[in-house]
Amino acid sequence: MADADGRQRFDSVCMEIYTPTPPSRDPVIRLLDHLPCDRAEDAAALYLSALSDKLIPVFGTGARARQALAAGFNRAMCISALEQDRLVGILGMQIASAGFMAVRLAGMRQYYGVAGSLWRLALLALLHHTPSADAVHIDGLAVAPAYRRRGIGSRLVAAMETWAAGQGFTVVSLEVVDTNPQAQYLYQRLGFEAIREQTVWPFGTLFRCNSSTVMVKSLI
Ligand SMILES: CC(C)(COP(=O)(O)OP(=O)(O)OC[C@H]1O[C@@H](n2cnc3c(N)ncnc32)[C@H](O)[C@@H]1OP(=O)(O)O)[C@@H](O)C(=O)NCCC(=O)NCCS
Repeated sequence: MADADGRQRFDSVCMEIYTPTPPSRDPVIRLLDHLPCDRAEDAAALYLSALSDKLIPVFGTGARARQALAAGFNRAMCISALEQDRLVGILGMQIASAGFMAVRLAGMRQYYGVAGSLWRLALLALLHHTPSADAVHIDGLAVAPAYRRRGIGSRLVAAMETWAAGQGFTVVSLEVVDTNPQAQYLYQRLGFEAIREQTVWPFGTLFRCNSSTVMVKSLI
């Protein structure tokens, strides 16, 4: 099935997968199994600010970075969190055959030219992880600063696990850098186990970290 932009969508297209009843003083956060078309640039802005160490070396900053990143999103491959129409969180997913970050030369070159796109795509390839056929990889998780520590990140992960189990995946994986112990702690609390530490040398200076930890969680 394809959406208005011609992108492939899962059967669960437009299904709202989790609408919690919040405590009265908290905003109502809806979780969706896709990114609405008109929220793509907001998602790019959120990704660029929350995952800046990884993305700014590739995309830079400003409107061009936002537009290039937004144009490269596969909007079917994420869970988004919205308060009314405001995007407040996003979790990008990667499976063996598709991923949220679907940046291609054809889309990039209008923003960076061919040469500028090629080295950017090479850097993105360094960050890319292709999971096994039974796994979903969390390719990025970001919650808007004003909405953090209210459980939205945990709910995005839980919704992704529900989606993954429903699609027949049995494992969820992710990678967290050594400079982000808070996120690592959160993942541990959500049941992920560290299985491997890997060096990012010689690109640590560029991406401002020394190593990353691969974490997994079984869904069965
Ligand atoms: C990591 C992130 C997605 C968590 O989202 P969230 O909505 O705040 O997550 P939750 O409210 O479900 O859980 C918060 C927990 O995360 C941990 N945590 C997150 N940020 C923290 C911080 N600045 N200081 C201490 N603990 C923090 C704590 O364990 C916290 O639990 P607590 O509030 O009970 O102490 C959010 O902080 C974020 O967008 N950070 C920037 C991007 C990022 O680091 N992404 C992860 C990349 S792997």
